[in-house]
Amino acid sequence: KYKMIIDTDPGVDDALAIAFAAQHPDIELLGLTTVYGNVSVEQSTKNAGYLLDLLDIKHVPVAKGEAVPSVQKPHPFPDFVHGKNGFGDVKVTYPADFQPVAEHAADFIVRVINEHPGEVILVPVGPLANIALALKKDPTIAQKVKQVVIMGGAAHVAGNVSPAAEANIWNDPHAAQKVFEAPWPIVMVGLDVTYQTIMPSEPMARIAAASPKVGGFLQKICAFYANFYRNVAGFNGFSLHDPATVMYVTNPELFTTVRGQVEVVKEGAGAGKTFFAPEGKVYAESYWSERDNVQVCTDVDEAGVLALIEQVLS
Ligand code: BDR
Ligand code: CA
Repeated sequence: KYKMIIDTDPGVDDALAIAFAAQHPDIELLGLTTVYGNVSVEQSTKNAGYLLDLLDIKHVPVAKGEAVPSVQKPHPFPDFVHGKNGFGDVKVTYPADFQPVAEHAADFIVRVINEHPGEVILVPVGPLANIALALKKDPTIAQKVKQVVIMGGAAHVAGNVSPAAEANIWNDPHAAQKVFEAPWPIVMVGLDVTYQTIMPSEPMARIAAASPKVGGFLQKICAFYANFYRNVAGFNGFSLHDPATVMYVTNPELFTTVRGQVEVVKEGAGAGKTFFAPEGKVYAESYWSERDNVQVCTDVDEAGVLALIEQVLS
């Protein structure tokens, strides 16, 4: 089984990613760690608690993490994408008995990776504040983690929050740079591929019909998110950013990757941009061949991704 920690800011597509992980027979969810991003960390933690209850996985611990970026001032929450409550403004009744664990998300990540050396797959699908903090607390986790599969960035396409930047990186570019330069094996699942994994309404409706409780809830919260993608991005459906990232772990054959070095622009108009230098390419600055620790996803089998999510969630 894939031992996985998902660091998340639920968030509509985060909810889909967590549901996919919970219902995939080959994934063992060791915990959810929460962060600000789509909503406040208070709200993302409550939403994680709601999802555990919905998915019947109350044994999975939730560790609450950072409320603000590591260096810069926080950006406003994108309520026009995920709704004010992060669930597309669908009203939910939160379980009264849910509590996050006492440990901070970063301490949780450090402890769990140390307890399972070589085994943990860390899947950050929100801003990278908790991950950078975990690295700072214990840099040796870079040698002990199995893989870090990140939803974030854009190597060859424009951003979604600015011409330069993808949201998760833009929400804490300083943390992102720390994460990309650490000596651990990273897979970057960015907009290059998540803008090619668009979920139309028909498979979502089939999922809801096949699984009324979980699929039905997911379909409801996706309506708001889908409207945003239809009206603003002009897509025929919504982008499977975070679920595609979890799918990379179970089905890497659906993705094409190129290895290389990623550097993050930290300030100014280009803040949050992920510059990518592919391995072997010779640049004037030798700086650009220092490390090739990132596999950047450049292409994806969209039909394969859609079939897989429908199969697992149905
Ligand atoms: C990322 O930003 C958030 O809105 C989504 O949950 C996803 O993680 C996409 O840019
Ligand atoms: Ca997210």
